Amino acid sequence: MVFHYASPSRQTLPVEDATPDHQVHTPSPASEQTIETSDTAANDPWRCTERSSRSDAAGREVTLQRAGGLLKADVALTTHQGETVVRKDYRLWQRTALAPLARYLMKREARMLQRLSGWAHTPEFKGTDGRYAFYMSRIDGMDLGEARRRSVPVRYSEIQRMVGELHRFHVTHNDLRWTNILVTPEGRLVLIDFASAFHAAPRSPLRPIMNRLRRADMAGTLKFKQKLTGRGLTPTEQRLKTAPRWLSMVRRGWKHQMLPRLKRH
Ligand SMILES: Nc1ncnc2c1ncn2[C@@H]1O[C@H](COP(=O)(O)OP(=O)(O)O)[C@@H](O)[C@H]1O
Ligand SMILES: [Mg+2]
Repeated sequence: MVFHYASPSRQTLPVEDATPDHQVHTPSPASEQTIETSDTAANDPWRCTERSSRSDAAGREVTLQRAGGLLKADVALTTHQGETVVRKDYRLWQRTALAPLARYLMKREARMLQRLSGWAHTPEFKGTDGRYAFYMSRIDGMDLGEARRRSVPVRYSEIQRMVGELHRFHVTHNDLRWTNILVTPEGRLVLIDFASAFHAAPRSPLRPIMNRLRRADMAGTLKFKQKLTGRGLTPTEQRLKTAPRWLSMVRRGWKHQMLPRLKRH
């Protein structure tokens, strides 16, 4: 299904320690644009050929993703204060043992979007809907995986630049993947899904963790390099991509110990 939407213009976010030539893209107001996604759970609504006008979309909700997996949210296109927006909703988990965690994830992501408000590479936060859901601006375009499949030109250096800029706001994303980067028709890249993101102020005692996470984010972008440019990794990049032992252990512990336990509840 294809929806039309005019994206709002954005303001520039002041960057504390940005380089002098730092630039923030201000998207040109678009007239009629579309979005498509390759997220398996989110594909169906977008894949049908029926075209839907903006007023159709304004009148009803369209599911982008159903809360399938553990602590996944329902994501839907909806109307809020007369605007077409996206709602990310963890309500499925209320009255379960995971309710506090669901509320925490929602608050965390909402806070992160507020923190990054004005940056051209995130959706704009549009308010909360109770304790389990929040609204954000809807991004036109397609996700990075879809862009690659359709040979839409995306420069890897732009991804690196965007992630570097995010780090200068003292935020790491921690979940950089093909479905969490959207590409607008003008070629603007937009990061979504900040549920795992992390912030540490410059003089915070958490800075060492932050530095590790920055490195992991940069390493996370390398999987895009190979696929988008066709070029192999340099030895330095290869080293960066190899996760440190402690991180591999944490990941293994999460996957094989914590996750199965949580799923039993
Ligand atoms: N602001 C947005 N604009 C357009 N599509 C979005 C937006 N936020 C999420 N989506 C779509 O919904 C999907 C799921 O959202 P996401 O926040 O990544 O959820 P999850 O945490 O479950 O991965 C995304 O892959 C994307 O296709
Ligand atoms: Mg996601």
